[in-house]
Amino acid sequence: MKKAFIIITLIVSVYACKDVVNEVPDVPFGTTAYTFTTHNNVVLPPLRIPKDNALTKEGVQLGRMLFYDPILSADSTQSCSSCHNQSDGFTDNGLAFSEGIRGDIGKRNAMPIFNLMWHLDGFFWDNRADILRHQALMPIQDPSEMDETLGNLVVKLNNSPLYKEHFEKAFDATSIDEELIGKALEQFMNSIVSGNSKFDRVQLGLETFTSQEKVGQIIFNAEAIRFKDEINPNDPKNFGGDCFHCHGGSLFMRRESLTNCLPSNDDLGKGGFNGNTDDNFKFKTPSLRNIEKTAPYMHDGRFNTLEEVVQFYLSDLNEDCPVDVANAPNMHALKDSVYLSEDHKAALVSFLKTLTDDTYLTNEEYSNPF
Ligand code: HEC
Ligand code: HEC
Repeated sequence: MKKAFIIITLIVSVYACKDVVNEVPDVPFGTTAYTFTTHNNVVLPPLRIPKDNALTKEGVQLGRMLFYDPILSADSTQSCSSCHNQSDGFTDNGLAFSEGIRGDIGKRNAMPIFNLMWHLDGFFWDNRADILRHQALMPIQDPSEMDETLGNLVVKLNNSPLYKEHFEKAFDATSIDEELIGKALEQFMNSIVSGNSKFDRVQLGLETFTSQEKVGQIIFNAEAIRFKDEINPNDPKNFGGDCFHCHGGSLFMRRESLTNCLPSNDDLGKGGFNGNTDDNFKFKTPSLRNIEKTAPYMHDGRFNTLEEVVQFYLSDLNEDCPVDVANAPNMHALKDSVYLSEDHKAALVSFLKTLTDDTYLTNEEYSNPF
């Protein structure tokens, strides 16, 4: 019995090791590999870590310190966490727009931080940052956010015995530079994983949905029905919300920018960044995990509640999509299918709330280390 157990354990660990080697790069000598306590590899995809920036305990801890330290801003009043608050899914305390150190108000809603290792299409609502370590340096220098120069920051950190010690431990570096600052922040942000919501526990057979949540899940995953007379009022499949096309899979996101036909304002989204008119009004398609906690919604925070979002998709959507519907796959189908009852809308919202992951929102590994 004992022998069989050992053999099985051995086989399992050989396989586990093989996977880990494939997915997690080796850590540099002298550092300790970071172990995920939160990665649920039954539901979430395999880990996806940049080869030249393996997650180490030392690097993740350093990135966490930088993330929570106002030293990153010009007047030492603002840290990344000022606008990315853990208990709000790392968004900005319920605000539509964030305020920078000079009192400037931004034009876009602060985005949540979790599962970023699986984002394939860049960062920010308009995808203007290609990889996370580049993204991390942008708010530091943004005049309407932290308004610091990288030159100054490098000097400040090199003058800090605390940071000298931590950069040496994490990167074996005697001198701190901007690349290492980006890499440390990248490690910390890559360590933030969310995969323990009720939805996940239901997938694992540990909990069950209420009947309302179940109806919501069916609506979420059903195709939009175009013609009202095709509807069988007794079958929730006939009330397709068509959400899954753009917010599907275990990450609840599509890894490309799309338009959901929000009535436009002057923000061109991805097209405004890359100048390609086909990309006008396209925005990064957000994950719906933890969506209950990240209000207000959309790139400009125009909706305050999930009920308003559902109302927009399933009732208020009209023919005035700001782009050609060819550029808005699935939205043209949705536009004609606005037949959800109030009960069905409530069911959809109740399903969305099963995506809230309290362990992520309260995990001390992601909290202020100071
Ligand atoms: C003044 C508020 C503010 C500060 C400070 C701030 N952010 Fe943000 N963050 C935002 C806003 C607003 C957005 C969306 C901006 C956009 O898309 O143009 C954002 C977007 C992001 C994203 C993109 C997520 C995604 O899914 O694409 C990441 C990652 C991020 N911030 C990390 C950081 C880090 C790291 C710092 C500190 C170095 C930081 N932020 C400082 C407000 C802030
Ligand atoms: C054609 C693709 C598409 C479909 C279909 C779609 N969405 Fe979206 N969704 C998007 C995009 C793109 C955004 C970001 C839009 C923006 O901010 O300009 C978004 C934003 C959202 C947001 C706000 C997220 C945040 O972080 O602010 C919620 C909530 C949401 N969608 C829920 C739904 C639900 C529920 C459905 C089904 C009824 C649905 N979506 C169908 C593409 C889609």
